Amino acid sequence: GKRNYLIGGNWKCNLTLDGVTALVKSLNSAGPIPDNVDVVVGVPMPYLSLVRSTLRSDIEVAAQDSCVKTFGANTGETAATMLTEVGCTWVILGHSERRAGFNGHAQELRKGESNETVATKTKLAVDAGLKVMVCVGEHKQERQDGVTMKIVGEQLAAVKSALSTADWANVSIAYEPCWAIGTGLAATPEMAQETHSEIRAWVAKNVSADVAAKVRIQYGGSMKAANAKALLSQPDIDGGLIGGASLKPEFFDCVNGVP
Ligand code: G3H
Repeated sequence: GKRNYLIGGNWKCNLTLDGVTALVKSLNSAGPIPDNVDVVVGVPMPYLSLVRSTLRSDIEVAAQDSCVKTFGANTGETAATMLTEVGCTWVILGHSERRAGFNGHAQELRKGESNETVATKTKLAVDAGLKVMVCVGEHKQERQDGVTMKIVGEQLAAVKSALSTADWANVSIAYEPCWAIGTGLAATPEMAQETHSEIRAWVAKNVSADVAAKVRIQYGGSMKAANAKALLSQPDIDGGLIGGASLKPEFFDCVNGVP
């Protein structure tokens, strides 16, 4: 059969303490998780410890970033090992919002994290014992120009250079076309499947056939209850990375949308 599904929620920079408490309560009472699904929620740093200690144990907890260096004089940063100390088992790395940067630059200018930064972070996180959802994806213009796999291939090549073949057991690829993030305009199941299958072929060619068969490729970008089932039914779509809808009870409709 297919690989176990991986449904990730990415809460991004949302929620007050009251909101976190309410969301955890709703997740805790949302019913059983199907056997073929792994569920993880990406939590803002200040709430990680609280969420880990109050959330049901069959949902794992992810951070949304970790540092490109280890412990040291890196003000404002979070070393991967710190995340494991508070019971975090995953980290989301290379999200397009982080690749775009937070210095007031336009999103499409990629003034944030480079492919190499994301790759180094991925290696450090895996070495610290975390599993990584590493995000890749093209901008709208790049898709229109027909260079989607050139862009995604460069993002993956940097990760590949940083990892050993064995490291891939702890990595999931989150394919997030930037034009579909937060827009309500998800990729069609067919369009997403096409790119997912190209990503798997890239991994087969550049890493190994075994890793390609095992690595999970999540789709992200306006996934919600209404489209989850159709997306997750595609042969190379192994899960989702869900932003907006992960803040609502609808998240569990996606978890239950697996075939
Ligand atoms: O990491 C999640 C993605 O950026 C998707 O966000 O579901 O709000 O479009 P979205």
